[in-house]
Amino acid sequence: MDRNELKRAAAHAALDELVEGAIVGVGSGSTVESFIDALRARRERVAGAVSSSERSSERLRAAGIEVLDLNRVLAQGRDIPVYVDGADEIDGALRMIKGGGGALTREKIVAAACGRFVCIVDASKCVARLGRFPLPVEVIPMACELVAGRLRRLGGRPAVREGFVTDNGNLILDVAGLQIDDPAGLESELNQWPGVVTVGLFARSGADVVIIASPEGVERRAASGARA
Ligand code: A5P
Repeated sequence: MDRNELKRAAAHAALDELVEGAIVGVGSGSTVESFIDALRARRERVAGAVSSSERSSERLRAAGIEVLDLNRVLAQGRDIPVYVDGADEIDGALRMIKGGGGALTREKIVAAACGRFVCIVDASKCVARLGRFPLPVEVIPMACELVAGRLRRLGGRPAVREGFVTDNGNLILDVAGLQIDDPAGLESELNQWPGVVTVGLFARSGADVVIIASPEGVERRAASGARA
């Protein structure tokens, strides 16, 4: 099985996580695109989607799934019980690095507005320790060098993602070489820096469930104490 087949297998398994007739939160990336494709055939099962990127929104609409405005959904008091998204890395405690596609800020917002976070990955994304994948950090453009300097002092090697502007009009610093001993602590620290919009660590609030596809099959794991 190649990696795309594994992504499709994980994406397909996520259909079983949906709540019948409810709005679904949808992340970004190629695994999520497979999820949207799988959802197309069962679109009557959802009352629409809240999306975390322009790209996912386009694909959802093309699949005949209504894209709803997050503020309006929340103002109406409607529930979004499940959020489905991929990850660049996920560890045994279901903490993640995300943002390889640059949609980390909206992903964090939509995930926070939803109930269970269902992460869909192929097995190559599973790591014992986060940090091999360069950590994406979304920054306000005028703060780029300020934030980059601080990241260097932490031992990181930040690089501005070339030719890329986020859906929010900001830049991404991809930070290699960070020693991530305390993912939630690092997330909290970077979140406080002036000019940082979002750090791609999803550790203070990780996934509730991960669906992992490998050549041996599809495995579902729930975080301890999660809403499984
Ligand atoms: C998008 O910004 C990311 O957080 C994606 O969830 C992550 O990069 C995984 O993407 P793939 O499914 O394409 O590997």
